[in-house]
Amino acid sequence: MSAKEDGLKIGSARHKQLLCRFFTDSFVKIDAGNTPWPELSSESVARLKSLPVWEEAVKTEATTAHLVQTFGREIRDADLSEAITMNGFEEGRHALLLENLTRRYGIDVPHFEPEATDDAEWGFLKVGYGECFDSFFGFGLFALARDSGFFPPDLVKIFDPIMQEEARHIIFHANWVAYTRAQKPSLEKIDFAFREGMALYVQTMSRAKTALRFKNDNAQDNFTMAAHSSFGDISARRFLEVCLAENARRLAAYDPRLLRPDFMPKLARAALAVM
Ligand SMILES: [Fe+2]
Ligand SMILES: [Fe+2]
Repeated sequence: MSAKEDGLKIGSARHKQLLCRFFTDSFVKIDAGNTPWPELSSESVARLKSLPVWEEAVKTEATTAHLVQTFGREIRDADLSEAITMNGFEEGRHALLLENLTRRYGIDVPHFEPEATDDAEWGFLKVGYGECFDSFFGFGLFALARDSGFFPPDLVKIFDPIMQEEARHIIFHANWVAYTRAQKPSLEKIDFAFREGMALYVQTMSRAKTALRFKNDNAQDNFTMAAHSSFGDISARRFLEVCLAENARRLAAYDPRLLRPDFMPKLARAALAVM
């Protein structure tokens, strides 16, 4: 049943209840400290090392964990605080898993300590948009790596639930943004909408910078070679199609009355239309 069929008003108290319930009900227990890391062949380890994402991923997960946990502690609404604290806990275990994986397979990544923030709402707003970008492409890349054997099945088993958690996080964020904006008095609504725009802009720029750095980096050559031998030739069109399909598949698992983040799917569909 859609929100319209259910008569659900986005921004209402019932919207908030459904949002928090969806999130806490879909929590999955994962013992991140005791992961059964598989023994990998030297080729598999070399392929993992060729991925130019580890440093960025470790930084992003550590920063996200810190900012989401901070906001979970500071937000005054008890239901939202419970869900956001759980979200922050999950981000903490993402950071731990990544740290352990890089250590286990000898991937050299410097330790990263996130900076403190004095504006927790801004931090949460910003990391949520970053997750919408990263998840959209991450879902597609993960599917390609899984289906081509680039990732060994034992690693896929460990990381699939983590990808699924990101699907929950971006649904939560899209609905929290809509709920929070609706709850603000008129003047503050304008201010909040401006902050939304700024957060989206900051994250778009940061991803564009990362892409440019990657383009000019030697790491790209190693990765391109390793990826080419596993994925074969994959066009930009095919990649976007996989991202769209995986995004739809992962988000479909949850309450259809809740909003879905639509910025990246819309952008991808627009790109496909002119390709
Ligand atoms: Fe995460
Ligand atoms: Fe997340």
